[in-house]
Amino acid sequence: MALENDLILRAARGEQVERTPVWLMRQAGRILKEYREVRGSLSGFKELVETPELAAEVTIQPVDILGVDAAIIFSDILVIPEAMGLPYQMVEKKGPWFENTIKSQADVDKLRDASVDDLGYVFEAIKITKRELNGRVPLIGFAGAPWTIFCYMVEGEGSKTFSKARRLLYTHPELSHQLLDKITNLTIDYLKGQIKAGADMVQVFDSWAGILDYKQYREFGTKYVSKICKAIKEVPITVFAKGAYQARKEIASMECNTIGLDWNMSIQQSKSIIGPNKTLQGNLDPCVLYADFKRIELETHKMLNSFGSQRHIANLGHGVYPDTNPDNVRCFIEAVKSYQHK
Ligand code: CP3
Repeated sequence: MALENDLILRAARGEQVERTPVWLMRQAGRILKEYREVRGSLSGFKELVETPELAAEVTIQPVDILGVDAAIIFSDILVIPEAMGLPYQMVEKKGPWFENTIKSQADVDKLRDASVDDLGYVFEAIKITKRELNGRVPLIGFAGAPWTIFCYMVEGEGSKTFSKARRLLYTHPELSHQLLDKITNLTIDYLKGQIKAGADMVQVFDSWAGILDYKQYREFGTKYVSKICKAIKEVPITVFAKGAYQARKEIASMECNTIGLDWNMSIQQSKSIIGPNKTLQGNLDPCVLYADFKRIELETHKMLNSFGSQRHIANLGHGVYPDTNPDNVRCFIEAVKSYQHK
């Protein structure tokens, strides 16, 4: 099926675009009352993730309501630990919680020899979404980076420091590598499964990249993200490693098309570190969307001007915050779409 709007794919591949494409990380979800209505009729978040027709419905909502240039499949990075034998719960107002975590070799040995067949509900949701999008915009697939998944598998819940996860890197480095390797292999199969089901591009979220020092991030982080990039050749791949300032050069050497920048990363500095052969994605501070329309337009235009007219995919520097007014999100999207580069 030919796409009516393939701006984001062209931008990712470094081809000419007539305007900058735009989408938002975490666009499908709590900012939309239409999402909250679907979600409210169910037993919880997981039922939504695991019911392909409904996952497809909330995936498409931001395309219809906000006018973004891409959809991102509604799911969560935590389906991977679950497939490996560590089920999660999404606790209201708190976030993810795992009853069982990884503390020792015995825990790693107990993990299931997972296969992507366990994640068929995600592939089904992708197929339905593609059918219902009917070529309007591309569909983005995603997975968590191995280090970020490791964080949840060891810590068992969200944390500011993930000190249990970081502790394991020092106390059991071999065990850590063994676990990261398992996660990486399943993630590669998972992304390939998403692509086979219809994902037009994929993104790897390394949300906790920034809590490791550079040497450790090289050893336990980029090594595995790089392996994923090498394995995915079918569609463009984006690496978003939040807080990984020191690793930007390293990430630039990976076989990825696009690199996501968080809002603390200077655009000019990132451009000079990364060079002209990658597309950059980002990086407006999500808090800008709490300001009035004039300020949102001003900050968006400043950002677009710094990135330039090509090799840029406009986005926020991290996921949109749940209490953001959708009108302000629309203002951001319109500000990107109507901007004329000088
Ligand atoms: O629009 C989209 O981006 C698609 C859906 C998506 C979700 N999670 C849905 C979700 C994506 C891409 C994710 C990725 C994800 N999940 C990440 C990486 C990106 C990031 O934000 O850094 C991480 C770290 C997670 C793990 C996770 N899932 C946490 C920590 C939480 C609780 C905090 C929070 O943000 O709500 C979730 C829950 C979650 N994932 C919700 C949604 C819509 C909220 C659950 C609800 O509806 O009650």
